Amino acid sequence: MFRKIIFLALFILPSMLFAQNKFVGVDACGMCHKSEKQGKQLDIWKSSQHSKAYETLKSEKADAIAKEKGFDKPAVEVEDCLTCHAVGYNVSADLKEKKFNVEDGVQCESCHGAGSEYKSMKVMKSKEESIKKGLLVYDDAATLCVTCHNDKSPTFKGFDFEKYWALIKHDVPE
Ligand code: HEC
Ligand code: HEC
Ligand code: HEC
Ligand code: HEC
Repeated sequence: MFRKIIFLALFILPSMLFAQNKFVGVDACGMCHKSEKQGKQLDIWKSSQHSKAYETLKSEKADAIAKEKGFDKPAVEVEDCLTCHAVGYNVSADLKEKKFNVEDGVQCESCHGAGSEYKSMKVMKSKEESIKKGLLVYDDAATLCVTCHNDKSPTFKGFDFEKYWALIKHDVPE
């Protein structure tokens, strides 16, 4: 009996209080973030290189780079490549909803955090609530970019924030 109570206190209750965010996938975010009025985030992302980042790892060029670096498997299976080219590849299945697809590469949740807990309209309407439930936003976006755009990238060719942000920016219209 006593042990049962300890167990409850240690494990069950905290997990009820802090439900862990699951990855929901691009389409779940895109549902609301695709109209002209919202700012077409889904389309902007789809036409950016970020949506192709996983696909890129399936290319011959990627395999050649992986081989050169001493990995003896296809680039798309190399953790050291996936770390910047995808998200959610290394989390257990129960932390991914059905529609989540690793092949979406660098997607909404790569930058804004796994979304199951903040994606409801009720939460999203309030920026403060969304952040409490795990939404990541940035005062200084450049610091986010350079976590991947840096010389650990085997093909790094420099990073100019103004120029690069202009290519992926997806603001909500005023
Ligand atoms: C049910 C609809 C809905 C879904 C699903 C949804 N959002 Fe939102 N989101 C909103 C609304 C409404 C706002 C409020 C801002 C606005 O006017 O567009 C918002 C705001 C945001 C903001 C801006 C926060 C700020 O004010 O700086 C980000 C970032 C965001 N959503 C990301 C996401 C991501 C990532 C997903 C998927 C995990 C997602 N949203 C899913 C409706 C939604
Ligand atoms: C999780 C890692 C990651 C983060 C964070 C990230 N990127 Fe990227 N980005 C990539 C990868 C990987 C590619 C290459 C995709 C490809 O070509 O397959 C890329 C490509 C790009 C490209 C296309 C460049 C080209 O040569 O065509 C632009 C533009 C870009 N990113 C802008 C940004 C900006 C701006 C930020 C910050 C707001 C950012 N990225 C944050 C991983 C990231
Ligand atoms: C490479 C990183 C990256 C990716 C991928 C990304 N975002 Fe963002 N997003 C940012 C940054 C940086 C900002 C600007 C700073 C902020 O508000 O956090 C931003 C801002 C936003 C905003 C608020 C815009 C405003 O005017 O306040 C929304 C809404 C949003 N993102 C939704 C999405 C959705 C939906 C997706 C996927 C379809 C997505 N983002 C993909 C990095 C990213
Ligand atoms: C630190 C983050 C990071 C890591 C680790 C990383 N990449 Fe990338 N990758 C990027 C970014 C960012 C780009 C966009 C171009 C650039 O600025 O390097 C990119 C672009 C690419 C491209 C397209 C470049 C082109 O010009 O065609 C290939 C291919 C590629 N990466 C393969 C790999 C392989 C293979 C690995 C693992 C051995 C790997 N990457 C590891 C961040 C990374």
